[in-house]
Amino acid sequence: MAKSNKDWAPSTLTAQAMGHIDPTTRAIIPQIHPATTYQRDSDNEYRSGWSYSRSDNPTYQPAEELLTRLEGGADSLIFASGMAAATCAFTGLKPGDHVVAPQIMYWALRNWLTGPAMDWGLDVTLVDMTDLDAVASAMQPPRTKLVWIETPANPLWRLTDIAAVAKIAHAAGARVAVDSTCATPVLSRPIEHGADLVMHSATKYLNGHSDVVAGSLTTARQDDHWQHLKNLRSQMGGVPGPFEAWLLQRGMRTLFLRVRQASQSAARIATHFSTDPRIEQVLYPGLPDHPDHAIAMRQMPDGCGGMLSIRLAGGQNAGTKAAIACAASVNLWKRATSLGGVESLIEHRASIEGPQSPVPGDLLRLSVGIEDTDDLIADLDAALEP
Ligand SMILES: Cc1ncc(COP(=O)(O)O)c(C=O)c1O
Repeated sequence: MAKSNKDWAPSTLTAQAMGHIDPTTRAIIPQIHPATTYQRDSDNEYRSGWSYSRSDNPTYQPAEELLTRLEGGADSLIFASGMAAATCAFTGLKPGDHVVAPQIMYWALRNWLTGPAMDWGLDVTLVDMTDLDAVASAMQPPRTKLVWIETPANPLWRLTDIAAVAKIAHAAGARVAVDSTCATPVLSRPIEHGADLVMHSATKYLNGHSDVVAGSLTTARQDDHWQHLKNLRSQMGGVPGPFEAWLLQRGMRTLFLRVRQASQSAARIATHFSTDPRIEQVLYPGLPDHPDHAIAMRQMPDGCGGMLSIRLAGGQNAGTKAAIACAASVNLWKRATSLGGVESLIEHRASIEGPQSPVPGDLLRLSVGIEDTDDLIADLDAALEP
């Protein structure tokens, strides 16, 4: 007997958008539903389950169902952006609640947490998430309600041992949420390691074509807290437009091919430049001398992803000048923020994060796309000062 989609491999499910066929038209591609509102039944019920598009839209279903399967979760929600997804997870808490988050994480979310979120009443402690003793000391049971992890973490690419942090957090009665944007469900499934919630900036690898801003949350279980987050998405209105949701599910069909290619290419680029005297340090968890290499082998056995950073040689001043000059000289790599698209991007991270940034000035962040690896190496090689 033919296998049902229950038994398909994740890459098969993804390529086929779960294998769904439209029951009315037999279309093999999911429909787009631009309607903002739906007719009530004559007996006053909403039997279709749809009433108003700020609450939910059927166009969200393919991406949400696929994410739930890929992450091994119980349910997913897509949002208007990664920030809308992340801030929903935090505002699902109550003023006075305490959260623990990493010192090194996506900067805009860290700025929101230490600014508006604290003004709103959250108590936020930032810790070195790679230091398990520091994480344990930061817990304040029963006030600590959430521990936020980002792994691999922007832009230094340190990894967090999700299982170890989950053990600490759960013992203190806190949930664990993982920003898994840079790992993707192709390379890491945080719920398998004990996470309660997984967040993605779907703007990045999930969509993969630098043409959609979106985000997602996946829960390990259906419970009252998840229902609260669902209500919040509807109440705060952080929903994607139907066209964006449709583009997202379309982009996701090639997720496995894109991520595997980017990850293999990034590993080759990291190895190639690791002995280059113009570079002080290559930051990539797949390199054997990376401080979290052992965690990488356990947590990301199929590859460490398409993100790496390089620190230019020469010390703080000369290194910063060399980094800016290198970014100015590339041709194939595009000088732009963001990550996870099919085209490779290079970015002087300290310039976008501003003077408060803990990121060293000599650092360039590289988002490896799916171009030929030799072309990428040659372009970067030519852009590095002799
Ligand atoms: C790791 C990470 N998390 C969250 C976000 C925020 O996502 P968005 O830009 O889709 O709101 C980003 C964006 O760069 C990111 O890189």
